[in-house]
Amino acid sequence: MEPEEAIFTRRSVRSYLPEKLDDGTMEKIEGWIRDAKRLTSDPFEYDYLGPEEIKTLMKWRAPHYLAVYSKDDMMSGVNVGFVFQQVDLMMQSNGLGSCWLGMAKPAAPKSHGRLKWGVSMSFGKPDGYPEVDKGADRKPLSEISDVADPRLEPARLAPSAVNSQTWHFKKNGDGFDLYYKPKVLKIPGITYWNYNDLGICLAHLYVSHPDTFAFERDGRDEKRYVGTVRIRRSERTYLK
Ligand SMILES: Cc1cc2nc3c(=O)[nH]c(=O)nc-3n(C[C@H](O)[C@H](O)[C@H](O)COP(=O)(O)O)c2cc1C
Repeated sequence: MEPEEAIFTRRSVRSYLPEKLDDGTMEKIEGWIRDAKRLTSDPFEYDYLGPEEIKTLMKWRAPHYLAVYSKDDMMSGVNVGFVFQQVDLMMQSNGLGSCWLGMAKPAAPKSHGRLKWGVSMSFGKPDGYPEVDKGADRKPLSEISDVADPRLEPARLAPSAVNSQTWHFKKNGDGFDLYYKPKVLKIPGITYWNYNDLGICLAHLYVSHPDTFAFERDGRDEKRYVGTVRIRRSERTYLK
């Protein structure tokens, strides 16, 4: 399966076989992270951890975790979401399971200079696969945008922390301005994970329109403005 198809089929996997992935697969994953497009130049670093190195209240464990470190400003969180959602789609299109995890910290965070742990991702061989509902639990296009443009369908299907979908698009010429539309949720850390979510939905637009995707931030003084994204229909997309 191609990564753009995984946009429509992927689900968070919370049930894994305990066995570790082989070295070749781990090297492939490292390559997917290295080759993923960056949205900004904001720095991030990551560690691979085993289940014994993770602190979480969740009852299930995966054989592997990525722990990602960055600064905590909006664009740093957006960049982390953008990069690691490309990795999530690569994993899921190659038969691996994965799940973004805010609620799974490294038990002993490693030193990464000024960068702090922000989010984790579990991965491994799935033990069964959650039923695909093709996004029925997502907001309709008309709720995430002022214009229900079908080019935004991959963004609509993006995963987000507690499925909060705190993104909103406004048509701007041939592109869309993306805004952060926070929900009031009393979850410590949720703002950073919402920043990840914004990058995750941009990653779905990039992976579905790799040849035409363009992102820029103009200098407008609006706190919740993330940036302007331009995508054109490309021949091989979901709209055929
Ligand atoms: C930034 C982020 C943090 C998340 N944190 C958790 C978590 O701590 N625990 C969990 O079970 N799922 C977590 N999720 C998974 C979401 O609950 C899930 O993506 C969402 O409900 C949509 O479901 P789907 O991924 O199966 O499409 C997180 C997702 C994102 C994007």
